[in-house]
Amino acid sequence: MGGFSFKKLTFALVIAILVWASSIETCNARRGKHWRHGKAGPFSSLYKKKAKNHGHQGNVGKSKPKPKEKQPLPIPEVPQAPPQKGSKFNVLDYGAQGDGNCDDTKAFQAAWADACKVEASTMIVPAGYEFLVGPISFSGPYCQRNILFQLDGTIIAPTNANAWGKGLLQWLEFTKLVGLTIKGKGTIDGRGSVWWTHSILDDPIDNEDLLVSLLNITITQSPPVSSSMESKMPSTKPTALRFYGSFNVTVTGITIQNSPQCHLKFDSCNGVLVYSLSVSSPGDSPNTDGIHLQNSQNVLIHTTDLSCGDDCISIQTGCTNVFVHDVNCGPGHGISIGSLGKDGTTACVSNITVRNVNMHNTMTGVRIKTWQGGSGSVKGVLFSNIQVSDVQFPIMIDQYYCDHSSCTNHTSAVAVSNIAYENIKGTYTVKPVHVSCSDSMPCMDVRLTDIELNPAPKGYHMYDPFCWNAFGELYAPTVPQIGCLQQGTPSSSWDPTETGCPA
Ligand SMILES: *[C@@H]1O[C@H](CO)[C@@H](O)[C@H](O)[C@H]1NC(C)=O
Ligand SMILES: *[C@@H]1O[C@H](CO)[C@@H](O)[C@H](O)[C@H]1NC(C)=O
Ligand SMILES: *[C@@H]1O[C@H](CO)[C@@H](O)[C@H](O)[C@H]1NC(C)=O
Ligand SMILES: *[C@@H]1O[C@H](CO)[C@@H](O)[C@H](O)[C@H]1NC(C)=O
Repeated sequence: MGGFSFKKLTFALVIAILVWASSIETCNARRGKHWRHGKAGPFSSLYKKKAKNHGHQGNVGKSKPKPKEKQPLPIPEVPQAPPQKGSKFNVLDYGAQGDGNCDDTKAFQAAWADACKVEASTMIVPAGYEFLVGPISFSGPYCQRNILFQLDGTIIAPTNANAWGKGLLQWLEFTKLVGLTIKGKGTIDGRGSVWWTHSILDDPIDNEDLLVSLLNITITQSPPVSSSMESKMPSTKPTALRFYGSFNVTVTGITIQNSPQCHLKFDSCNGVLVYSLSVSSPGDSPNTDGIHLQNSQNVLIHTTDLSCGDDCISIQTGCTNVFVHDVNCGPGHGISIGSLGKDGTTACVSNITVRNVNMHNTMTGVRIKTWQGGSGSVKGVLFSNIQVSDVQFPIMIDQYYCDHSSCTNHTSAVAVSNIAYENIKGTYTVKPVHVSCSDSMPCMDVRLTDIELNPAPKGYHMYDPFCWNAFGELYAPTVPQIGCLQQGTPSSSWDPTETGCPA
């Protein structure tokens, strides 16, 4: 009897050890040198051959540069597109485990390195898996055009501080690409809660104290969760998904959630299309913009749901020809142009249209915010057909933007002109209209048409519409009456050609 159960026990132990060892083995597979042999896909022999020739061109990832192969020329040549145009590269074939636990970064790097070389190739991140991927750069400039990043699975970010070094500006980065598309039903999950708890008071990027003080609310800091963590997350928080220096990029279908900071950022891009995107993070997660645009032109964002803790869409300097329509925003801080002109910088923003937007439970609705002391201009902005419900400040222009209690006064300002608000309707909880323009450079050509804003039943302390140094046209009647907008042009107007921005 005793011998029998001893055997059983030994057997169980052996099995347990085998299972344990194989799990170690599995996780190590992606780190080891032989990952290509481990889970060889249909293209594996191809990879082996090509890896030798093109190993240096992928330029993927910053973590560990491979030992340099001797390059024949200092200027890398753009590779000829190999014949297999449209090939597919599945991260599973490169050793990705997709178990939410093993680090799949290397598999992603390797799949990308091969996808990069083929015009109109597809990199596949399949459904039904959860890939743990560390900071990674999918970068050109030597990649072929029109690559499709088919994202149907879930990509999750590391939550241990070590993976982030001293802090990085982004987690998943796509740079210097032409015609790249990210498409699918998948999810990018930044698992940002480990970052948010540290930051409310440490990081005054955009705490919006002005509005908070108007509301007479005290921010209470969440209790730190650091006791359960090995070490503190770096103070620089990454954007979840960032595009830089790219042309004609598309993001569609996917969900981006719980970013440590901004969810989706386009910087220095020309030709951006975002639709059927979903962004989701808690309303109290700090600095978690939905979509952030900077130095980017010809941008179309539509049919998208944005819930986050900061601006749903933030349009920064250098943006022109931006069209946003059919977007749901809330919770969040609304759709904002700015803040612009911080630290005396010049900012130029023009030709922005925001149409057919529902805002629910947001701080501001449609807003322009500039710092004192800047220069440049914001011109040619249309906010049309904006439905608000329980929005603190539906219409706002603030040329005294300041993210802490007081900022130094300056005479120069980012000039604001040709701004139209039409068909803005719904309920507010603090102040329906706040248009506060520079003393030295009044806002010009501000047009308000079909404004119908009623106090929400749950509003606390309601304020009347406020304007300061704002000139333009009011198309009455409005609800409430807006008596503060000055008709016509100011006697001492500024010259739009002298703002330092393109005409
Ligand atoms: C702000 O709240 C404090 C305490 O609740 C109250 O005493 C004060 O009058 C409030 N101030 C305004 C401007 O509502
Ligand atoms: C981007 O798309 C536009 C419109 O389809 C096209 O005219 C332009 O050449 C494209 N840009 C690049 C760099 O391919
Ligand atoms: C303004 O931007 C829109 C895209 O939103 C574009 O179609 C239009 O041509 C632009 N207007 C000018 C004058 O560039
Ligand atoms: C800035 O100007 C405002 C309005 O004129 C004034 O109330 C405020 O005290 C000034 N702030 C500083 C720091 O000078």
